[in-house]
Amino acid sequence: MSKLIVLEGLDGAGTTTQTRRLADALAAAGHAAHVTREPSDGPIGRLIREMLTGGHAIAGARLDQTTFSLLFAADRMDHLQREVEPALAAGTIVISDRWYHSSLAYQGTGAERAWIRELNRRARRPDLTVFLRVRAEVAAERRVAAGRAQELFEDLPMQQRVAGGYDAVLAELAAEGEAITVLDGEQPLDDVTRAIVAAVSTLL
Ligand SMILES: Nc1ncnc2c1ncn2[C@@H]1O[C@H](COP(=O)(O)OP(=O)(O)O)[C@@H](O)[C@H]1O
Ligand SMILES: [Mg+2]
Repeated sequence: MSKLIVLEGLDGAGTTTQTRRLADALAAAGHAAHVTREPSDGPIGRLIREMLTGGHAIAGARLDQTTFSLLFAADRMDHLQREVEPALAAGTIVISDRWYHSSLAYQGTGAERAWIRELNRRARRPDLTVFLRVRAEVAAERRVAAGRAQELFEDLPMQQRVAGGYDAVLAELAAEGEAITVLDGEQPLDDVTRAIVAAVSTLL
C-alpha cells in the first residue's frame, strides 16, 4: 500500500523514536514500511547535516537561512526522486522523519514562507502528517538528558520561535485540506505510539 506518512515536531519531540516504533507496529500488522528522514541520507542531506553540526561555520558569520531554505528544498526533491517515489511505486508505505513542514516552521518566518512554499511546490503532499506537540522546554530537557550536542537552530529561543512557526504552518496546510493529526507528544512513549498507530490505521 503506497502511502507517505510524515512525523513532525521540535528537536526532542520524539519523531525519530516514534518513526521506528510506527514501522515496527506496521510490520507486526503485515505492512512493510520504508523508514527515511530529512535531511536525507543523500549527498545534499549529508551536506546539510554537516552544516547543522557546525562543520562549515565561519567564525563570526551568521549562516543565512535563505541558503538553508534552498538546500532543504533541493534535498527534498532529491530524496523524493531517489528514495521516496521508487518505494511508493513499489507499493511500500514510506514513513519520513520530517518533510516540508520542518522547512516552513524553521525557515519560514514572515514573508519567507510563501517563497519556501513555492520552492516546495513539487514536493508530494503526505497522505498523513502526525505532529508531536511537545513544549520547547520539555524538548530541550530531553535533548540534554539524551546527551545530545546542541545543533544550529536548537537553542531555546529559536525552538520557541519554531513552535510558533509550526502552529501557523499546520493551520495553513490543514485549511487547504492536508491531512494533519496533532498528538500530545508529552505522554509516555507507549501512549504516543498507540495514538500514532490509531491515526495511521485509518489510512490502511
Ligand atoms: N514520549 C516520550 N516520553 C519521554 N521521553 C521521550 C518521549 N519521546 C522521546 N523521548 C526521548 O527524548 C529523546 C529525543 O527523542 P528523539 O526521538 O530522538 O526526538 P527527535 O527525533 O524528535 O529529536 C530520546 O532520548 C527519547 O528517548
Ligand atoms: Mg530525530
